[in-house]
Amino acid sequence: MIKNVGIIGSGTMGAGIAQVAATAGCSVKLYDTKTEALDKAKADLEKIMDRLVEKGKIDSTEKERIQNNIKYVSSLKELKDSDLTIEAIVENLDIKKNVFSTLEKFVSEDCIIASNTSSLSIASIASSLQKPERCIGIHFFNPAPLMKLVEVIPAIQTSEETLNISVKTIKDWGKTVAVAKDTPGFIVNRVARPFYGEALRIYEEGTATFSEIDSAMKEIGGFRMGPFELMDFIGNDVNYTVTETVFEAFYFDPRYKPSFTQKRFSEAGYLGRKSGKGYYDYSSEMNVSSSAVERSIDKEKSESIFNRILVMLINEAADALFWNIASAEDIDTAMTKGVNYPKGLLAWADEKGIDWCVKKMDELYEEYHEDRYRCSPLLRKMNREGMRFFD
Ligand code: NAI
Repeated sequence: MIKNVGIIGSGTMGAGIAQVAATAGCSVKLYDTKTEALDKAKADLEKIMDRLVEKGKIDSTEKERIQNNIKYVSSLKELKDSDLTIEAIVENLDIKKNVFSTLEKFVSEDCIIASNTSSLSIASIASSLQKPERCIGIHFFNPAPLMKLVEVIPAIQTSEETLNISVKTIKDWGKTVAVAKDTPGFIVNRVARPFYGEALRIYEEGTATFSEIDSAMKEIGGFRMGPFELMDFIGNDVNYTVTETVFEAFYFDPRYKPSFTQKRFSEAGYLGRKSGKGYYDYSSEMNVSSSAVERSIDKEKSESIFNRILVMLINEAADALFWNIASAEDIDTAMTKGVNYPKGLLAWADEKGIDWCVKKMDELYEEYHEDRYRCSPLLRKMNREGMRFFD
């Protein structure tokens, strides 16, 4: 039973994870090297709690209980009583390894030492420990208190016990767990790549505008945001870096190739909402609302844009299953709970028909003769054998 939780790094993610654990009744110690970061985390939590009280979601006793469950500490040694520690510091392997090996000197033999990293391998982080079997990836999504999904990633060194306790704890905290193999992008950051990449490619081919592509995905697919709206929301710099990291980590597999359009937007400082301009203009309220106005386009063109992006997403999800990155259920849960897709991609494949998926992929390959459009062997096998992902 996990009671005492240590969180390392009190930035966006660390503060959010601390709130989740404290709400679930754990006694949390939140540590950061910067006192300003600790002060900010404390002040932000106060604001969040006040808002929840105003909305009637919690009462003042509950607010006090959650806040009293968190202690803000400025020495790593103070985490010595932890049953579980979750690290959410800067995304730098050497710095993380350093913190992990120091931390291991203070904590008990069986304390689980986890990382919230989005892009580093858990095996490499675990290698800094004397007892690497206690290390695991516990990957929350931003904002941690609101997003239901947590990816749990055992490294090759991780023990069965560490995995089981981690999964149980995260479920006890009210989250939905998807267990993923320690591979680049885990589930969500891998399977979601074509949503951005294929949309950018269609735009670069000159056959559709940003808003035409966004409308197709929202009107036909039921996605809450189109790819360009979402990239503007995430930030083009951040989204480009994730793509580039995944591309490099997959030894330059052309399926993950980054786009020049996004690179130039990023270089120009057209980062999206945060800079006032991205694929759309956010410089005034009027522009923001006009960018969101849906321009209806030719239905046939919309269908073809949507089908192309969808089949690339399905192909990526099927390939993740082919390579045993996660179970079919966890792959679908990850996309609906981690990035709010209207349906799981494998369930969507069943609905469209596996034969349809194979035919669409082969049509794309015929058109371009690029490895990017290779159909997953799993889809091909399932089609031959008349199988579905779910009964
Ligand atoms: P952030 O920049 O908001 O916070 C990082 C905090 O760590 C800062 O307060 C900093 O002072 C502190 N810090 C840096 N070095 C430290 C050290 N050696 N010891 C103690 N504290 C230290 O970063 P953010 O966005 O919260 O990300 C943290 C981690 O979570 C990264 O590994 C990132 O990849 C991962 N992540 C981020 C997500 C996001 O959307 N921001 C989503 C999921 C994972």
